[in-house]
Amino acid sequence: MAKRPLIIDCDPGADDAVALLLTLAPGQEFDLLGITTVAGNVPLAHTYANARRVCALARAEVPVLAGCPRPLVHSLTTAEAIHGPTGLAGAELPEPSQPPLDCHGVDFLINQCSQAGQPITLATLGPLTNLAVALIKCPPIATQIAQVVVMGGSLGPGNITPAAEFNFYVDPHAARVVVEAGLPLTLIGLDVTHQVLTTPERLARFAALGNRVGQTVARWLAHYGQGEGDRYGLPGAPLHDPCVIAYLLQPDLFSGRPMYLAVETDSRLSRGRTIATPYLTPEYPATAQVMEEVDAEGVYELLWERLARFGEGVRG
Ligand code: BDR
Ligand code: CA
Repeated sequence: MAKRPLIIDCDPGADDAVALLLTLAPGQEFDLLGITTVAGNVPLAHTYANARRVCALARAEVPVLAGCPRPLVHSLTTAEAIHGPTGLAGAELPEPSQPPLDCHGVDFLINQCSQAGQPITLATLGPLTNLAVALIKCPPIATQIAQVVVMGGSLGPGNITPAAEFNFYVDPHAARVVVEAGLPLTLIGLDVTHQVLTTPERLARFAALGNRVGQTVARWLAHYGQGEGDRYGLPGAPLHDPCVIAYLLQPDLFSGRPMYLAVETDSRLSRGRTIATPYLTPEYPATAQVMEEVDAEGVYELLWERLARFGEGVRG
């Protein structure tokens, strides 16, 4: 069967990095066309370097392109408190194995969507600035996108403010452009990711995989877990971004409903708030598939099985 063409847009970030490794594990089903990075968890220079280092760790030759250095309207808000000063604290990484590429991430998205023989799946793990700019610069690409799976938003409380989830808060205008573009959109928000916790037992399973990737993930997540789980009274930190790739690999682990979806851009207190309802009317039709429940143990089983595949090739 032909592999599914995929582009990942991300801001690594520890959970983004785990999502990248889940995608890059040997024997995967995707034709990973490229990875675009955006400013988010840390500034663009770090997210770009981190994505390239993760590819070097995985020994993967995938194009990595730097995209937008700031949100559309607001100044950049970062999350070093969660991810460490460079975005990937806790474990040494190899230097990037590829030279920097001289193409902007937004142009890469446009070119790939325009030239692909079949519609492309997009996985977005950070603020939606790159995809929004691509849609503004070249609207016809919307017809070349098979599916967009977004980590962002929250039906309940936010994590960066009481109202908003981080990715939607950082660039609410970009989120709004994407949500209003009429794309086949699946949303995986905090309601789902707060079920997928990095408990000490689960971190021990990563460490026990017997390869450098497993050790590295265990070290990242041990650091990343500090504080976030405590804040919510949870036994571990929410592992957000790998849920997007897990959904693409094994959608039956997730359940949700079609909903009307919008993003608040105008209010101060509610900046980036997710507005969503499953109670549809002609005025408020379904605009996204919004996930609500996940088999968290199934997500971790998938992660352990896939990351174990790095085996001998990427032994520390
Ligand atoms: C999102 O914010 C970032 O800190 C994580 O990488 C994830 O994409 C969760 O709100
Ligand atoms: Ca992210």
